[in-house]
Amino acid sequence: MTTTLITRIGELTTNVAVDGDACGTRHDAAVLIDGERIVWVGDAADAPHADEIVDAAGRAVIPGFVDSHSHLVFAGDRAAEFEARMAGQKYAAGGIRSTVAATRSASDDELRSRLRGFLDEMLAQGTTTVEIKSGYGLSVVDEERLVRLAAEVTSEVTFLGAHVVPAEYTDRADEYVDLVTGPMLDACAPYAKWIDVFCETGAFTVEQSRRVLQAGIARGLAARVHASQLGPGEGVRLAVELGAASIDHGTYLTDDDVAALAASDTVLTLLPGVEFSTRQPYPDARRLIDAGVTVALACDTNPGSSFTSSMPFCIAIAVRDMGMTPGEAVWAATAGGARALRRDDIGVIAPGARADLVLLKAATRVHLAYRPGVPLVARVWKDGLVVA
Ligand code: NIG
Ligand code: FE
Repeated sequence: MTTTLITRIGELTTNVAVDGDACGTRHDAAVLIDGERIVWVGDAADAPHADEIVDAAGRAVIPGFVDSHSHLVFAGDRAAEFEARMAGQKYAAGGIRSTVAATRSASDDELRSRLRGFLDEMLAQGTTTVEIKSGYGLSVVDEERLVRLAAEVTSEVTFLGAHVVPAEYTDRADEYVDLVTGPMLDACAPYAKWIDVFCETGAFTVEQSRRVLQAGIARGLAARVHASQLGPGEGVRLAVELGAASIDHGTYLTDDDVAALAASDTVLTLLPGVEFSTRQPYPDARRLIDAGVTVALACDTNPGSSFTSSMPFCIAIAVRDMGMTPGEAVWAATAGGARALRRDDIGVIAPGARADLVLLKAATRVHLAYRPGVPLVARVWKDGLVVA
């Protein structure tokens, strides 16, 4: 196996907490990669011998971004809906149905090539792990197709048959939940690690959401929940009650929600691209972090509410408009995402972790927020291989 030493790293974000620094920052550091794994981290002056040397020349290295929330298997786009929103129209969950129609009529190969295009785009921006949800099929055959295609490219597959009630089940939401928790779950569970539901007015009630999540848990899937995106609701408490790994969105949280999250193992995944693209108020991440909530950042790449695939963009918004420090935002986009996926082998630069790293074209991670919109990724390793 070839060993690679990345050395003369000006600022290394390890995410191995030290002396109150959650980012575990080291200076003048080096990292040794052996095959797919990191095997050594230390001072550049003490670096061991390696087959290949990469000179970081004082630049920063961070863990690969862990994007724990995306909807990448779909066809079409909704640029006209975005344009109308920017002219004052409100975002509503109903727009999802138009993507469902486009997705149902696309072939596997069309969906596959679109999906691979998004993954390349993400790798080039430093994302080395991505969770992918179904949710634009909403029939047994189409949801099975979406989780199957997602499973071709990631192990973090989420079955989201309960995204919205499809048109053919209008006014028969409970019957649709029977389908989701019965034959659709049977078809999709073999490809999925996670079960998700959109618990929101216009999507599924808390009772329906509980049925969906409990059915998935009974099949060995672990829970994650879309909630409190469009207004306050009971989804956060449901997520905590069922031990969900993550509740995602959380744009409108009550004090009780925040207290329940702080006392739980459930991560709150904030999705700044959604507020950007729907002109909603940004959630106050400062309030959450100060209360003791574990916060992750993700893109929620989808054609409706957030069509960015850029974690640096989300970091910049989180710092500029949500009260996070640059260190907190980078942690949330790496270690936070890993927590939201219940993974300890990614989001961290430490011996034993997967060799997923990003060399920045900048001296510090602060530049990710300080230079918004600028491509700052110099090189990306995934599983020890240079991929961008
Ligand atoms: O995470 N909230 C629900 N689902 C997606 C939006 C999907 C769409 O508008 O197409 C989300 O924001
Ligand atoms: Fe989503």
